[in-house]
Order: sequence, then structure tokens, then C-alpha cells
Amino acid sequence: MSLLEKINETRDFLTAQGVQEPEFGLILGSGLGELAEEIENAVVLDYADIPNWGRSTVTGHAGKLVYGDLAGRKVLALQGRFHFYEGNSLDLVTFPVRIMKALGCQGVLVTNAAGGIGFGPGTLMTISDHINFTGRNPLIGENLETFGPRFPDMSNAYSKDYRKTAHQVADKLGIKLDEGVYIGVSGPSYETPAEIRAFKTMGADAVGMSTVPEVIVAAHSGLNVLGISAITNHAAGFQDELNHDEVVAVTERIKEDFKSLVKAVLAEL
Ligand code: HPA
Repeated sequence: MSLLEKINETRDFLTAQGVQEPEFGLILGSGLGELAEEIENAVVLDYADIPNWGRSTVTGHAGKLVYGDLAGRKVLALQGRFHFYEGNSLDLVTFPVRIMKALGCQGVLVTNAAGGIGFGPGTLMTISDHINFTGRNPLIGENLETFGPRFPDMSNAYSKDYRKTAHQVADKLGIKLDEGVYIGVSGPSYETPAEIRAFKTMGADAVGMSTVPEVIVAAHSGLNVLGISAITNHAAGFQDELNHDEVVAVTERIKEDFKSLVKAVLAEL
């Protein structure tokens, strides 16, 4: 089956399950999936039951698709995303974004845990722009003309309006919200200190192993994107050592602010 046929099949399946006219897609990163539990009038689907869908294998990623009402908006939330480092193709990693577009979403909120280059653990950061350092591009292969052009512009991949709204909302709530450039790597090894020094020189403020493929596919099809990174650790070389447990622990600490922020932003978009 072609990618387009798969997209259509999955879209039709989800529509039949009651996933109707979502306004926003939510991609919830490591430890941030709890937000989906607040969705009301929810249709909850296990990834395993959705045709053409991937599987989630990382601790802290639940593996459920949740559709319903959040902050007065119709949302389609991914509790646990697919990573390239799990051995997934980029078609699979970005498939949920294709589906969000096919179902008629106007925007996607993409969240992640990231290492801070400059910013410290506990920081919430809107992504102003990214550097694709994965060595791959999810749009390689046949172009889906009905989604977007062969050579899509990436100048405004992260919506200025959405970012402005996010910062206004954060100010109102008294939540500190920074902004910066996210550099996306493949993982799964964390970076070396030399790589982080290089990334700093390149203008990166945060580093992570997700988001970039999804945002490229979103931008291709004209979806508005708000990217939010939860900085969980100082990137390599700025602290003694890195481990996933710390990433989970810091996410745990900042997730209340994160949840309040996302809900309040959704209401205003
Ligand atoms: N590097 C890459 N990905 C990450 C990090 C990091 O330091 N922290 C959380 N995700």
C-alpha cells in the first residue's frame, strides 16, 4: 500500500471511531502524556488497534491516541510518539502528523524533553526554529502533492502567532517561558561534550531526539506549529553525566506548569 493509501485508510478508520474534525493535534513527549488524561468526552484508542500505526517502546510513553475536548477545543492527542532511534522509518514517525492534517487540524502542538545548551533543567522553552542534525529528511521519496510542494519553505515552520500567544498566556499565568532554537539529533546515545560545544556555536539552545521530523512534515502541509521543550538536564559537558531517569524526574517536576500552559494556550489559539 502506498503512503497515501495508508493515510486515507487510517483517516477513515479514525473517523468511523468518532474522531471528527479535530482542531489541534497534540504530540506529547517523554513524561508529558498525562495531559491527555484531562481530555473530556474522550475516544481512547490503543496504538495496537489503529491500522498503519506505530508502537511506542520508551518508558514514559503510553501508546494511546486520545481524541476529545480540552480547554474548549477538539484535540487529537498522541500519548507517546514514535522515534527514529527505535528503528522506525520516518514515514512512521511522522504518520500521526499526516493524519492530523488529513482529519482537518489547523495546528499541532509538539512537545518534548530536551537537553539545555544554556538553559537549565526545569526551563520551559518555545521553539523559535530548529536545526535538522539528524542527517535525514522525512520528505525524501515521492512527494504527496495533495499535502504540499516538493520543496517546502521552512522559514516560518514555528508559527509566530502561536508563539506570541504562548508567551502572553505564560505571562498571565506567571509561568516562566523562554524561547530558543532546538537542534534535532537521531539519538539514542546522548551527545558528546564536543558535539554540544559545536551545537552551541551553531546557535542551538536545546537538543533532543524528536520533533524535527514531525515539524518538517507539518510545515510541508501548512499546519501551524507550536513547539514546546521541557529542558530536563544540562546537555553533555555542562553536567557530570546524563541519564534517562533524571530526564523523567525533572519532567515530573515541571509537568504541572506544562499542563496549565498548554491548556491555557489551546483556549487562546
Ligand atoms: N540530549 C538529547 N535528548 C535529550 C536530552 C539531551 O541531553 N535530554 C532529554 N532529551
